Amino acid sequence: MRVLAPGETISGAALAARLGVTRAAIWKQVATLRAAGLPIEASSGAGYRLLWPTQLLDRERIVAAIADDDSPAAAAPVELHWELDSTQDELARRLGELPDLAVVLAEQQTLGRGRRGRGWHSPPGMGIALSCLKRFGGSPAALSGLSIAMGVSVVQALASLGVPDLCIKWPNDVVARGGKLAGVLIEISGEYDGPCIARVGVGVNVRLPAAVAASLDQPATDLASLCGGEPPDRNRLAARLIGHLRRGLLDFERTGLKPFAEAFAPLDALADARLAVHGVQDIREGVGRGIDERGALRVQTERGVFALLSGEVSVRRR
Ligand code: BTN
Repeated sequence: MRVLAPGETISGAALAARLGVTRAAIWKQVATLRAAGLPIEASSGAGYRLLWPTQLLDRERIVAAIADDDSPAAAAPVELHWELDSTQDELARRLGELPDLAVVLAEQQTLGRGRRGRGWHSPPGMGIALSCLKRFGGSPAALSGLSIAMGVSVVQALASLGVPDLCIKWPNDVVARGGKLAGVLIEISGEYDGPCIARVGVGVNVRLPAAVAASLDQPATDLASLCGGEPPDRNRLAARLIGHLRRGLLDFERTGLKPFAEAFAPLDALADARLAVHGVQDIREGVGRGIDERGALRVQTERGVFALLSGEVSVRRR
């Protein structure tokens, strides 16, 4: 992958010589990358080429860009792994050891997880997959608005890099032009009445391979399509996301949901939309009416307005 990342054609023989392996081993490796969704073209004679050149993640460049951005907690650790099962699981394994606002990034995840038991595809070079750790003194219940705060933080990070047309589908799917661009998974562990630890995982589609898009159960989009074929540099993007997430976590601890709720309102993709709310037992219909002070979605039905807390239900536009 490292050799193919610049998008130049390289022969199987040259690849084998460069990596000190047989041509059969190269063929196998290319097949694995293709199975992960990477568009690798092979032409007899010329060799292999990644159709979309990409920058691989580089920890030094990410850390330097975080410092350039003047982000808070710039000294907190940033770890980059070539491959993990899931950055969320890596944080979970190391809760006792990692300090607040530590970030773990993976170039690829083998068992990436989304909300509501879904998977999250993370082929190498095609997206951003990262998780950030934050301890809170209060109870997990006090973090009900964190989903909204983190969705807003991701949108602000992307908007600061010029990504157009962003909005949020409650609670925190980042969508643009009708497709999902990024998702946030928040997992909380701790005592019923506090303290607790939040792991905030963010996945962004930089280039979504067609095979991956086709396997998803909802429309998706990527930064390449939104940015006229030229997505932002992945290292800059990772740094920007880290900076905004850390600032968002610190601000949320200080101020709670209120300022994030204000920022959420104009981004709310479900405002005034006709919705079908899929609960465990039933499907209810109504109209989206923003969020309440806990970050719950307000839905107006014939029988009045009710509020949905995230995790309970999935919501679809009708
Ligand atoms: C969703 O919209 O369903 C949430 C997707 C969250 C994906 C990210 S990728 C980094 C982190 N590690 C995971 O396994 N999941 C989150």
